Amino acid sequence: MSQPVIEVGMIGYGTVGQGVASLLIKQARAYGLRVGAEIKISKVLVRDRAKAQKVGFLGADLFTDDAETFFNTPMQIVVEVAGGRGAVEGHVRRALEAGKHVVTANKAMLAEVGAELFTLAREHGCSVAFEASCGGGIPIVTSLKFGMMANRIDGIYGILNGTCNYMLTEMSEKGKTYFAALKEAQEAGFAEADPFMDVSGLDAAQKLAILASLAFNVKVVASDVWHEGIDQIQRDDIRFGQELGYELKLLAIAERNIEDLSQLSLRVHPCFLKKNQMMTQVRGSFNAVSVYGHAVGHVMLYGRGAGMFPTASAVVGDLLNVAGGWYSKAFNETKLVYDQNPLVKVLPAEDLVSRHYIRFNAKDVPGVVGKISTILGEAGLTINALRQHEKSPNAFVPLVFITGPVRRGALERAFGYMKDSGVIDRDPVAIRLADMPGESI
Ligand SMILES: NC(=O)c1ccc[n+]([C@@H]2O[C@H](COP(=O)([O-])OP(=O)(O)OC[C@H]3O[C@@H](n4cnc5c(N)ncnc54)[C@H](OP(=O)(O)O)[C@@H]3O)[C@@H](O)[C@H]2O)c1
Repeated sequence: MSQPVIEVGMIGYGTVGQGVASLLIKQARAYGLRVGAEIKISKVLVRDRAKAQKVGFLGADLFTDDAETFFNTPMQIVVEVAGGRGAVEGHVRRALEAGKHVVTANKAMLAEVGAELFTLAREHGCSVAFEASCGGGIPIVTSLKFGMMANRIDGIYGILNGTCNYMLTEMSEKGKTYFAALKEAQEAGFAEADPFMDVSGLDAAQKLAILASLAFNVKVVASDVWHEGIDQIQRDDIRFGQELGYELKLLAIAERNIEDLSQLSLRVHPCFLKKNQMMTQVRGSFNAVSVYGHAVGHVMLYGRGAGMFPTASAVVGDLLNVAGGWYSKAFNETKLVYDQNPLVKVLPAEDLVSRHYIRFNAKDVPGVVGKISTILGEAGLTINALRQHEKSPNAFVPLVFITGPVRRGALERAFGYMKDSGVIDRDPVAIRLADMPGESI
C-alpha cells in the first residue's frame, strides 16, 4: 500500500538546505518508515535560481525565485533555512498565516520575534519547530522542552559558538595570538569573512535568549543578554590562567538569581573554568551545553554546533516530528514554548557576583603589591591566589590575582582607585571565573 505524501517547501538552499535535501533523498525509505508518510520536497525558494540549480540533488524545476510561485505550490510544511530577517521573516509569517507548519534554523529571527511567531502559529493551528537554531546538531531544544519537563531548570552553561571555541583552543594549546587564530579559523571555514557576530558574543547571545525562554518560561530577546566577546583576549592571560589551573572558554550562561528566583542572570562572556570541569574538554569547533535541573542534576550535551549535516540532522529531525503529527500537537496543546509568558527580569551585569581573574601591569616600585592588595581589600575583595610574573621589557610587572566572589561594580570602582593612585599602567584585565554547580570529572 502506498504511503501518504507530505509536501514540503524549502526557503534557502545553502549549506543547511543542501544538507536537508541530501538527507531527505538518501534516507527517504527510513524516514518513510519512521513517520508513516513519504516526505517530498515540492518547491525551493531561492534568490539565485541558476546558482541553486548547479548544485544537483534536486531537479531544476523545483527551484523558484518567485515567492508567489512558491506559495501557490501545495505544501503542508515550510522549512526555512535562509537565515536573517527582512524578506525571510515575511515568508515565515505568510506560511504560518496560511496554516503551514514551519521548521526553522533561524536564531536571529527567533531571538527577536520568536514569541510573536509562536502566537501566530497557534492562531492558525500550526507550529514552529526550531531545534537547529541553538547548538546546530545538538538536540538541546528537544531535551529542554521534552526530556527535562519534570525539572525546574536552575542554570544553563553553554559553549554555543564553535568559531570562538576553535579560536580559544588554538590560542591556549598552540600559543597563537587572537589574530593568527582568527585567520586560521577563516581559512578552515569556521569563521565568516566578517567574524563580528561570532567574536562579539552576539551569536551566542541569540542562542541563549532562545534557550533561556524555554528553560525559564519567560520571554527573553537577544538584547536581554549581556555580552562580551573574545576580541580583547590576550594569549598571556590564557597562559597565566593555565598556570593557575584554569582554561578559558566563551560561555553563554543563564542562571537563576538565588536572592530573587524570578530574576535571571543572562550573559555571554569569556570565563575561566577549573581544568577538571567537563566543559574544558570541549575543544575546537565543538559545542556543548550543561543544564542543571533540580531533579536530574547535571546533564551535558556535546556535539557539532554547525556544519551541513549536523545542522541538517536537527532540521530534518524537526521535520519528521512535525510530519508525524506529534510535535504540532505538543506545540498547540501544551505550554512548552513561550508566547504568553512574562517578560524576563534580568540582573544587571554590574550586580553579578563572581570570582575573578585579574591582571595588573604594576609599576616596578617597592611596596606595589601591598598597595594593590590594600585597595582590593578596602573594596571588600578576598584574594584566593596571587602570582607575580617576570618584569616585562617595558618595566611593568604582570601581577595576577584570583579573587573571591565580588560584585563586578565594586571591582570596577577598585580599578578606578588603583588608576588614580598611579600604581598600575593601563586598564587591568578582569575575566570572570565560572563556578558551575558541583559535579566535575
Ligand atoms: N551553516 C550552519 O552550520 C548553521 C548552523 C546552525 C544554524 N544555521 C542557520 O541556518 C540558516 C541557513 O544557514 P546556511 O549556513 O545554510 O546559509 P547559507 O549557506 O548562506 O544559505 C542561505 C540560503 O538562503 C537563500 N536565501 C537568503 N535569503 C533569501 C531570501 N530572501 N529568499 C530566498 N532565499 C534566500 C540563499 O540564496 P542565495 O545563495 O541565492 O543568496 C541561500 O540559498 C541560518 O538561519 C543560519 O543561522 C546554520
